[in-house]
Amino acid sequence: GGTAFAKEKQKDILNVSHRGASGHAPEHTIVSYDMGEKMHGDYIEIDLQMTKDGQLIAMHDEKVDRTTDGTGLVKDYTIAEIKQLDAGSWFNEKNPKYANPDYAGLEVPTLEEIFQKFGKNNKYYIETKSPEIYPGMEKELLRLIDKYDVDKETLLVQSFSQQSLEIMHKLDPSVKLIQLISYKTNAVITDEEIGAIKKYAIGVGPNHTYLNKEYVQKVVNNGLGIHPYTVNEKERMTQLIDWGVTGMFTNFPDLLHEVKKGK
Ligand code: G3P
Ligand code: CA
Repeated sequence: GGTAFAKEKQKDILNVSHRGASGHAPEHTIVSYDMGEKMHGDYIEIDLQMTKDGQLIAMHDEKVDRTTDGTGLVKDYTIAEIKQLDAGSWFNEKNPKYANPDYAGLEVPTLEEIFQKFGKNNKYYIETKSPEIYPGMEKELLRLIDKYDVDKETLLVQSFSQQSLEIMHKLDPSVKLIQLISYKTNAVITDEEIGAIKKYAIGVGPNHTYLNKEYVQKVVNNGLGIHPYTVNEKERMTQLIDWGVTGMFTNFPDLLHEVKKGK
């Protein structure tokens, strides 16, 4: 936007490094999170899965197949077995343009290792994935948040599962929550839906694909934040900012940084 007001708003847009700077480096590795920070991402986005022995790890899929050299379900692996996997070589094969020999052999990080590495004052945007197959994951997440004294003013926890968010809210109402939503066609949200979400969450995270200006403005005017996922093109970033989004997930935090700077 061209007005002074729009420029002011633009600076506050949350730049969320989706799975780290996952356009540049293998998703959900310490390297990818580090790169997200260096590229001016405000938040590191972390998807959680749980091992057979109850450790929370950073991984998007329920299976290790896509992002490691292993096969099968995370829930059938112990953490010791997960640590044997190579979480980087797949990226080099899939993305020759961004390949780097240093990525070969990268480990799958535990949430605990991430908190140890980035510290309590970092901004984390954590998703409970597949909570129905990992009973107790919300409690374990909170235990680690408290163990590492993670700053709850900035922390955001997200899920597609309303039930998982409601469990979080009950266990610790001070943790700020985002309701993820996946639209398969033109996005519409009713007053009733907004009212229900406001009971436990401070914002929504819809896929950006089917969003429109009316949707964004309705959500924002009702006092909720809106962080669409996953936006990787500068033109679309600019359009969403003009519509009034309060942040977005991107695999390229460097590009969103440029857009925010007006470049
Ligand atoms: O968490 C926002 C976005 O990441 C949701 O989709 O499948 O990439 O976790 P997904
Ligand atoms: Ca996610």
